[in-house]
Amino acid sequence: MTLEEKVGQLVQLDASWGHPPDYLGDRIRRGGLGAILNTADAAIVAELQRIARDESRLGIPLLAGRDVIHGFQTVMPIPLGQAASWNPALVGEAARLSAAEAATAGINWTFAPMIDITRDPRWGRVAESPGEDPFLAERLAEAQVRGVQGDNHDGPLLACAKHFVGYGASESGRDYASTNIPQNEMRNVFLRPFAAAVRAGVGSLMTSFSDIDGLPATANEPLLQGVLRDEWGFDGLVVSDWDSVRQLTVHGLTDGERGAALAACRAGVDMEMTGESFARHLADLVDSGELSSQRLDEAVANVLRVKFRRGLFDWPAPAPAPARKELTDVARRLARESLVLLRNEGSTLPIDPSANQTIAVLGPLADAPYQQMGTWVFDGDESQSVTPLADLRAALPSTTQLHYHRVLKHSRDCDVSAFDEALDIARNADVVMLFLGEESILSGEAHSRADIRLPGAQESLVQALAALDVPVVGIIMAGRPLALDAVNERFDALIYAWHPGSQAGPAIVDVVLGTHAPSGRLPITFPRVVGQIPIYYNQKNTGKPPTDDTIAHIDALDSRAPQTSVGMSAYHLDAGFRPLYPFGFGLNYSALDYSPLTLSAERLEGDDLLIATTEVTNTGSHPAIETVQLYLRDVAASLTRPVRELIGFEQVALRPAEVREVRFELNRKDLGFFGHDGQWRVEPGEFHLWVGANAVTDNQAVFHWQP
Ligand code: NOJ
Repeated sequence: MTLEEKVGQLVQLDASWGHPPDYLGDRIRRGGLGAILNTADAAIVAELQRIARDESRLGIPLLAGRDVIHGFQTVMPIPLGQAASWNPALVGEAARLSAAEAATAGINWTFAPMIDITRDPRWGRVAESPGEDPFLAERLAEAQVRGVQGDNHDGPLLACAKHFVGYGASESGRDYASTNIPQNEMRNVFLRPFAAAVRAGVGSLMTSFSDIDGLPATANEPLLQGVLRDEWGFDGLVVSDWDSVRQLTVHGLTDGERGAALAACRAGVDMEMTGESFARHLADLVDSGELSSQRLDEAVANVLRVKFRRGLFDWPAPAPAPARKELTDVARRLARESLVLLRNEGSTLPIDPSANQTIAVLGPLADAPYQQMGTWVFDGDESQSVTPLADLRAALPSTTQLHYHRVLKHSRDCDVSAFDEALDIARNADVVMLFLGEESILSGEAHSRADIRLPGAQESLVQALAALDVPVVGIIMAGRPLALDAVNERFDALIYAWHPGSQAGPAIVDVVLGTHAPSGRLPITFPRVVGQIPIYYNQKNTGKPPTDDTIAHIDALDSRAPQTSVGMSAYHLDAGFRPLYPFGFGLNYSALDYSPLTLSAERLEGDDLLIATTEVTNTGSHPAIETVQLYLRDVAASLTRPVRELIGFEQVALRPAEVREVRFELNRKDLGFFGHDGQWRVEPGEFHLWVGANAVTDNQAVFHWQP
C-alpha cells in the first residue's frame, strides 16, 4: 500500500447529501476513503462499493456506517426503555433483527450499542443509555454485541461500542460538557460495560466527545492504548466521534488540525469520522517522523482486520430483510416488557375490557405516531407506528365507549384553553387514560434539559383531572426519568413507558388490559426533584449516612434552633435523601412474597461457592413476572465500596399461588473491585447480601470471605 492508500483507510466521510458517487467516487478510486456513513440508500452504497472494488487499485471494500440505535424502519423502544425490560436475551434479539433490517440497505456497520453509564437524567442521551448500573449495562452490552455481530462475526453487522469513555458523566448533564472521573469510578463503573463488550468480541469502539480530567477522550492514550489495547487486548478498530479529532483544538489540547491529527492517531484513534485532519496531515506527520510509521501501520491493520473478519472482501450481497411480522412481534414484546408500573392504588389497573365502561383517552401523546418513536430514528418508518389510541379502538369491544381529546397540541404546549372540554369528557367517564410526557425532540444528542418536570401545562392538567372523582391512569412516554414529585400522587395508576417505538399502542394496551403482566423495572433512579441529581442507588455510605429517624424537614425547622438540631447527615432539608422511585423498582398486578434470604455457608474460603436462595410466592390473583435482584456490599475495604451493588438478577413467571425457588451461585469473582492501583482485588472480611424486588430491599444475609 502506498502512504496515501494507507491514510485513505483511516478516513470516514459523510455520504448523506447530493449524489455521493459524484463527490466521493474519485476519492474512492484513488484509495482515499476507508468508510462512509449516513446513507441508507442501497443503490448508492452498492455503487460506492462497486467503485471501490472495480476501480480502485487495491479493491478494498468500504465500511458503510449508520446509527441503528434502537431499530431501523421498525422502531424498538429507546435503549433506556430496553434496559427497563431487564431481559438481555430479548434486547439482543431486537439488536439482531434491527441490524438485519438495516443490512438490506447496504449498511455493514452500526454505531451501537451505546453503553454509557449515566446518573444524570438531565442529559439528553440518557435516552440512549443503559442507565446507571454497571452490572445491568454489562449484560446488555454483551447481548447487543452478540445480537449485532453474531458470536463469530457471522451476524448482520459490525457493532461499535460507544462512547469510550465516561461521556455519561458530563457536568450537570449538559451534552458534550467536561467529565471528571476519578480512577476508582472509571474502573469500577464507567469502563465495565466496555470491558464486557470487548469480551463479547465487539469489532469497533467510538471515542467520546468529552474531556476527561483534562485529556479529551479522543486523545486519551492511557485509556485508548493503556487500558483498551494493552490490558484488554482489543484488536479491532477505534473510530473518533463526528469531527472530534478537529475538536481537540477547540478543547484547547492542540494547536490546529495538524496537531489534532497527531494527538488522536498517536493516542490510538484509527479512523477519523467526518473530518479531514487525518487525510490532510497523517502522511506528512509520518514523513517528518512525528508519527511513527509503525503506529500508522497498526491503525491501517486494525481497519483491514475488521474488514476481513466481517467478510467484506467477499463482497456479500445484502441479505433479505427479516419478515415484518418477526420485527413487529419483537418490537411489541420489548415495548411491553419495557413498561414500568410505578403506581396502582386500589388496583385501578388492569382495566376490565368486558365491563362496558366509558374511557376518556386524553393527552398529547395518546395519538402521536412520530413522538412515540423517540430519539435517533433517521430511518424510522412512522407509518408503522401504532398509537395507543388506535390500538385501544381496535382492542376494546364495541360496548366500551371511548372519548378522545388531545387537550394540548404537544408536550410543551402551555395553552390551557381545551381543559374545560377535557374535564367534561373525564367527568362522564369511568376511568381516564392520560398520555403525557416528552416529545422525542426533548431528549437525545444535544437535547439536555435543566428542569426535568413534565413540560408545558401538563402538570396543571394532571392537577385538574385529579380534582374530579374519576380514577386517572397516567401513561408517561419520555426519553428520560422525569421529576414527578409534584404530580406522582395525583395518579391512581402510573405506567412509565419511555418512548416505546413503533408498537407503543399494542404494548401499552397489552398491559393496561391485563393480557400481559407488567414486568419492567427501573434501570435508573427517579429523583423527586432535580436538585437531588446525581442520585443513584450504588452510592457511598459517607461518614454521616442519613436515616428516616434523624432527618428534619425544612417545614418543621425552628428558626432559632441550634445548627446541630437537624440530624447532621447527608441529605437535603427540602427533599430528604430518598428518591421518588429506587433503581430496580416496578410493581406487579399481583402481590408477591419473598422468603428470608438463606445462604449455603457463612464462611467462604478461596474459590468456595456460595448459594443464596429465596422463595418467591405469588400471593395475589394475577399472573406475575418478577425480576429477583441480588445486591452485595463489601463492608470494609481498602477503598470505600458502594452501599450496595447489583451482582445478579433473574426473571421468573409466577401464576397465582405459585412458589418458585430462586438460587444465585456466587464465588470470589463476584466480590472484587479495582483498587487505586488499577488492579482487581478481593479483600477478606464481611459481606452483606440482599435479595428482593428492588435496590431498597431489606431481605439480608451476612457472610465472610477469606483467601
Ligand atoms: C455523533 C454521536 O455522538 C454518535 O453517537 C453518532 O454515532 C455519530 N454522531 C454518527 O452519527
